[in-house]
Amino acid sequence: MPTHKKTILITGGAGFIGSHVVRLFVNKYPDYHIVNLDALTYAGNLANLKDVEAAPNYTFEKADITDESRIREIFDKYRFDAVIHLAAESHVDRSIMDPLAFVRTNVLGTANLLHVSLSFWREALEGKRFYHVSTDEVYGSLGKEGFFTEETPYDPRSPYSASKASSDHFVMAWYHTYGMPVILSNCSNNYGSHHFPEKLIPLMINNILHHKPLPVYGKGENVRDWLYVDDHARAIDTIFHQGKTGEKYNIGGFNEWKNIDIVHLLCSLMDKKLGRTPGESAKLITYVKDRPGHDLRYAIDATKLNKELGWKPSLQFEEGLEKTVDWYLANQDWVTAVTSGDYQHYYAQQYVKR
Ligand code: NAD
Ligand code: DAU
Repeated sequence: MPTHKKTILITGGAGFIGSHVVRLFVNKYPDYHIVNLDALTYAGNLANLKDVEAAPNYTFEKADITDESRIREIFDKYRFDAVIHLAAESHVDRSIMDPLAFVRTNVLGTANLLHVSLSFWREALEGKRFYHVSTDEVYGSLGKEGFFTEETPYDPRSPYSASKASSDHFVMAWYHTYGMPVILSNCSNNYGSHHFPEKLIPLMINNILHHKPLPVYGKGENVRDWLYVDDHARAIDTIFHQGKTGEKYNIGGFNEWKNIDIVHLLCSLMDKKLGRTPGESAKLITYVKDRPGHDLRYAIDATKLNKELGWKPSLQFEEGLEKTVDWYLANQDWVTAVTSGDYQHYYAQQYVKR
């Protein structure tokens, strides 16, 4: 897509990845008007965007993506040229507790956005773009060998991944049936600043800091492929501007880690930062009941994105992890704000009985 003036709707911009994408676009493209649409669920936090909220090319709209009349009203007001869709329920453990919330937002919400976008764009689809941000979890679980490529068949196994897989299928259905100019990416596990402390890395950082047990599911042998969140935001920028309509791109770090190794790495990093005796934080490691249907291994082959569009990750994991720990230690007010209220209730339900 050329970079002349345009108005872009970014959904889920108050969340973890969305806030990094909004920041990148607002700062890098002063000619774009970025409208961040977010329902501000427990995971959405406008404090994530304090540094850009006064920018002249940024606007926030509070709305739920499942609310058709409200989404129509917002489309009517701004007449978007493009949508970058990140709004979702994103935590696997919550999807096991409350699967229908995931069907509602991830499936119905995505279909609603497609439906409204098409109704505004139908007469002039040329130059429009609907970018759907998805996950590698749609591909299911790998054994010890192999990688997910763009051709790997979908095999989702949690309510979260099933809802994301379904949303991907709706996006492609709009492409094939209505000629909607869609593009899609499937990314591996992100980490970095502003990550809600229900997910592995920020939860462990928070618990290490407060001398709380470090709940490792099962034997801690499950493997994830970790990517620094700013690298994901850069990939989204690249794909949005240079990707081919109707195509999907895998995004990943070529950076596989067992959960238990990450927890040990964080413990030793934080022992140093907090002036603790080496080995002190690791004593907090507690093996707990496994996640039901726990996918063993994810590993992304991001060759297509590298070969066709020239993207590659910029940071080594150890460096990114240290930056992340430093951010959490320097931003305890943010952590305190997001861990009050609903978080305490969720934490008790998720961990106390394990
Ligand atoms: P997040 O949970 O941190 O943020 C989600 C955002 O969506 C929040 O701001 C929330 O308020 C908003 N939202 C939720 N329901 C909404 C609704 N009905 N209407 C409007 N807004 C709503 O999620 P994240 O980790 O930033 O993930 C963003 C996207 O990237 C998701 O689509 C997720 O599936 C995908 N993804 C995440 C990762 C990861 O590692 N976190 C990896 C690959 C893909
Ligand atoms: O792969 C991309 C996906 O990565 C995204 O689509 C999801 O939105 C994102 O949440 C993430 O899903 P995971 O389930 O892989 O992330 P999570 O941080 O919840 O867990 C990472 C691993 O750590 C997983 O194997 C489960 C384990 N774990 C997690 C928590 C929260 C623990 O052992 N203990 C924990 O307390």
